[in-house]
Amino acid sequence: MCGIIGYTGREQVLPVLLDGLTTLEYRGYDSAGVAVVGAEGGQLRLVKRAGKLANLRDALDGRTLAGTVGLGHTRWATHGAPSDANSHPHTDESGDLAVIHNGIFENFGELKAELVASGHTFASDTDTEVVAHLIGALREAGDGDLVTAVRAALQRVEGAFALAVVDRRNPTTIVASRREAPLVLGHRDDASLLASDVAGLIAHTRDITALLDDQVAILTPGAIELLDLDGRPAEGHRYTVDWDIAAAAKQGYPHFMLKEIHEQPQAVADTLLGRVDVDGRIVVDELRGGRSVEDELRSVDKVYVVACGTSYHAGMVAKYAIEHWAGIPVEVEIASEFRYRDPILTPHTLVVAISQSGETADTIAAAVHARNQQAKVVAISNVVGSSLARAADAVLYTRAGPEIAVASTKAFTTQIVALDVLALYLAQLRGALFPDECRDHLARRAALPALIAQVLESEPAIAELARTVSAARYMMFFGRHVGLPIAMEGALKLKEISYVHAEGFAAGEMKHGPIALIDEGGPVVALVTRGHVRGKVVSNIQQVKGRGAVVLAIATEGDTEIKEHADHVVYVPEVHELLYPVLTVVPLQLLGYHIAVQLGRDVDQPRNLAKTVTVE
Ligand code: F6R
Repeated sequence: MCGIIGYTGREQVLPVLLDGLTTLEYRGYDSAGVAVVGAEGGQLRLVKRAGKLANLRDALDGRTLAGTVGLGHTRWATHGAPSDANSHPHTDESGDLAVIHNGIFENFGELKAELVASGHTFASDTDTEVVAHLIGALREAGDGDLVTAVRAALQRVEGAFALAVVDRRNPTTIVASRREAPLVLGHRDDASLLASDVAGLIAHTRDITALLDDQVAILTPGAIELLDLDGRPAEGHRYTVDWDIAAAAKQGYPHFMLKEIHEQPQAVADTLLGRVDVDGRIVVDELRGGRSVEDELRSVDKVYVVACGTSYHAGMVAKYAIEHWAGIPVEVEIASEFRYRDPILTPHTLVVAISQSGETADTIAAAVHARNQQAKVVAISNVVGSSLARAADAVLYTRAGPEIAVASTKAFTTQIVALDVLALYLAQLRGALFPDECRDHLARRAALPALIAQVLESEPAIAELARTVSAARYMMFFGRHVGLPIAMEGALKLKEISYVHAEGFAAGEMKHGPIALIDEGGPVVALVTRGHVRGKVVSNIQQVKGRGAVVLAIATEGDTEIKEHADHVVYVPEVHELLYPVLTVVPLQLLGYHIAVQLGRDVDQPRNLAKTVTVE
């Protein structure tokens, strides 16, 4: 949940840390801090402040903190309220080493009690400071070697974490480790870097190593050595990223969210690229892995889709596609629920775990839980080499590029598209689709980027609409069939960035309770595109209109009749019924965005949230 950056090399480190933190601030923005090891005399200097990165910049007040080795941290608080004292980095008792960390050390209370009993005093309420003291104490008690002390400390801590340590006594070195929390290393000839995700590194290098659980990395300028916790040489997962530096910048848009909404045509096109061969067959090379994988997928008799938040809504859409095209029963479940029950899993169960970041703790745990029970796990992730990707049997990547805004947009549409390809692929494997049909289906999908671009043209009208409804206390969204997950996603977008209470409902459920919430002028968004449930949704619109609601309908172009029922209409082009979600979500993303802007909210960094939830 926090952003971590580290650099050891020849450049002055402070600008590198501040730029890295700017890129990573979306991961947490309760407080920020840096630690720099000075070249001369090996001093260790820390500056940290509660609040956003701007507060840290103010606190630095133009100081350069000369030095070429350092760590930076932007925090989403777990232990200890956001305050200057609780901000990272934290030092040990001697003040010689500094630690930054993402995650939770679950047994920190017990460790703290031991340290207090042996005379340690603490300046913060954090678990991080306890581990800094533990490393320092183990170093004093041992042979004085930092790496040995870090390894020994990690054998005592419990929980999921990524941490990095700098040390006045080892002025060119950073020591880092992780357990079930993300940490990537960047290689350069003259420097070595680390960050909690690749977005923090791409300005410096594309040559990346994903550190694996319980490995310790020793970074010096131009060299990175990996060990396991027993001190034996280890190997991480090394790969090259193809993300563009520009992709992690706003490029003239006022917010990342708006930029990412507008990137959807390209992101969807990239995700669909190369999915059909010359014979018209659907290609999912990632799932091929030899005949046995194909045979296993052919014999799947049950699919579970597990995910959180927006990715869960993409999973709900996938249920319709997989059941329709492949004829396999699907259950969709929130990962934090799935992981704590006893689902009936067999070697013929396919678990599809969806996560943009690939680092969401609950989704990873659900995937591991499923694999432990012999189910086959396919991950859908946007981040190459992510923890989820590595925990799964196979991974199908969305190609959305870095998603920086906390509110997920392009990741969602690319997830739907990737899951739709997976549904068609399963259908093809099971003989439910002939090559000609596959070719037709993929041709229809190839039109989606241009159709999304067409929907984006409604932005001025949606911005105007946002002005008229931005004073509302609440907003309701409803739909049926594939309109339901989009109603839920539209409500999530609105509530998370505008703080307006919003809920998405199955339209047919309205009269079983939620309709009581409607009062005169209350805004309701209805997903009422063409398809077998359109007429039913129109009836539901009439029911809420009769109770005073103001209705915004998302309907299919050419449906002029809907204007008789709704107060406002936004049209999307006609597509196959199962493909509407890719289009209908776009006006709802824009509506949420423009309402939040109207209300003066911090769109890219909404309160209390962080982009990636790496803790439970
Ligand atoms: C909402 C949002 C979150 C994420 C959720 C899962 O806009 O972004 O609900 O969808 O935290 O994140 P991933 O997909 O990274 O597992």
